[in-house]
Amino acid sequence: MANSSPVVPSSRVVRCLACGSTVDETPPPDVCPFCGGLPELRHQLTPELGNKVRDLAAERRKNPEHPLDRSGVWRFREIVYGGEHSPIATLGEGGTRLIRLMQIGDEMGIELHAKHEGDNPTGSFKDRGMTVVMSDAVRRGSRVVLCASTGNTSASAAAYATSSGLKAGVVLPKGQVALGKLAQTLFFGAQLLEVDGSFDDAMHLVRELSQDPRVTLVNSANPIRLDGQRTIVFEAFEQLGYEAVDWLVFPAGNLGNCSAFGWAVDDMVNLGWLDRPPRLAAVQAAGAAPFHASFEQGLEKLERVQPETVATAIRIGNPVSFPRARLSIEKTDGVVLSVTDEQILEAQRRLARDGVGCEPASAASLAGLQQLCDRGEVTPGDRVVLVLTGHLLKDPQALLSQNPTVQQVPAGEVEAAAQHLGL
Ligand code: F0G
Repeated sequence: MANSSPVVPSSRVVRCLACGSTVDETPPPDVCPFCGGLPELRHQLTPELGNKVRDLAAERRKNPEHPLDRSGVWRFREIVYGGEHSPIATLGEGGTRLIRLMQIGDEMGIELHAKHEGDNPTGSFKDRGMTVVMSDAVRRGSRVVLCASTGNTSASAAAYATSSGLKAGVVLPKGQVALGKLAQTLFFGAQLLEVDGSFDDAMHLVRELSQDPRVTLVNSANPIRLDGQRTIVFEAFEQLGYEAVDWLVFPAGNLGNCSAFGWAVDDMVNLGWLDRPPRLAAVQAAGAAPFHASFEQGLEKLERVQPETVATAIRIGNPVSFPRARLSIEKTDGVVLSVTDEQILEAQRRLARDGVGCEPASAASLAGLQQLCDRGEVTPGDRVVLVLTGHLLKDPQALLSQNPTVQQVPAGEVEAAAQHLGL
């Protein structure tokens, strides 16, 4: 066994959000076998289990005795899909910093924290879901994992697949993936296909291909990936001593995180870890904001858009997890916002003043928070957690294209160098 937990793990239910059917959880499908709808994976949780898991997770963090104890996902293994099985494909994901943003927080008059998922092994939150879905693929004897990606999922899938002895096939939108992510994906040996279209076209292709029973789809349509992403919220609250948080603000593209965070909040209430759930704020880039448009119309349906934004990670026009994400927003009295590319890049630069870097998509969360402050929805004294989803160096081009020109100095010209540096 991968772990010798004294605690009986949670039982789980997979239910189709479209037709309500209960679906076999081994493995949970990414589409309902009865109607083609989107399934959700939910745990049946009690405060009794909550007490035990909270203590165990804290103890494992302090005194890791098992390799899984070092993972910020598997420390919570009694309430994570597949935690009772072995082997587990872990690269030590999670355990990311919760950073107090003093300057920005003071400017806004709030207590502001950033959960920096760029700290993960491949530099994004995707690793938390990938460890769960890859472990399942290995156990079921899958040889190939497939994903469409704007770059982070593919980098993560490639790293976890290669370290698990699996082949990763990835389909990317041609010319729309940030350099760091492309390089990572190739470095970890994924088989790469580029499609002359958007992420949504790549996703369509991959969903067709993954009907082949030999392959596992590792996109967030697969609900067990989201099961791992719930731990972002578990960890953030653990780091805050389970004190109440007013707002949880994050960027939104394919709407996996929005779904996972809603599940996490609900789970934490059922586990007795929270009295008052935070409100969720999902932030989209204005050029790729079908969820925001839907929110403005009452969340009844979602209309696909042709996406365009500098935040390539969230350049998505037809998000797969809409039916799940809608519930998360509704249940948490949440909001969906959209921010311009200019506001995103300005927010990215603003974070630098607190010594924090992240990729453009991640900075959308801060731009969204500023909008909530301006509207008076976030009020002085509020405690807010931003989720920064990816590492600064994922997208070096976005950084260099904003920088002022670099001055040149001939070798050996000390005086000229001193003058340029203002010394
Ligand atoms: N932030 C980053 C850095 C991302 O890479 C993504 C999604 C998101 C936010 C949006 O999260 O899809 O759960 O709403 N990236 C995917 C990818 C689509 O392929 O890497 P979401």
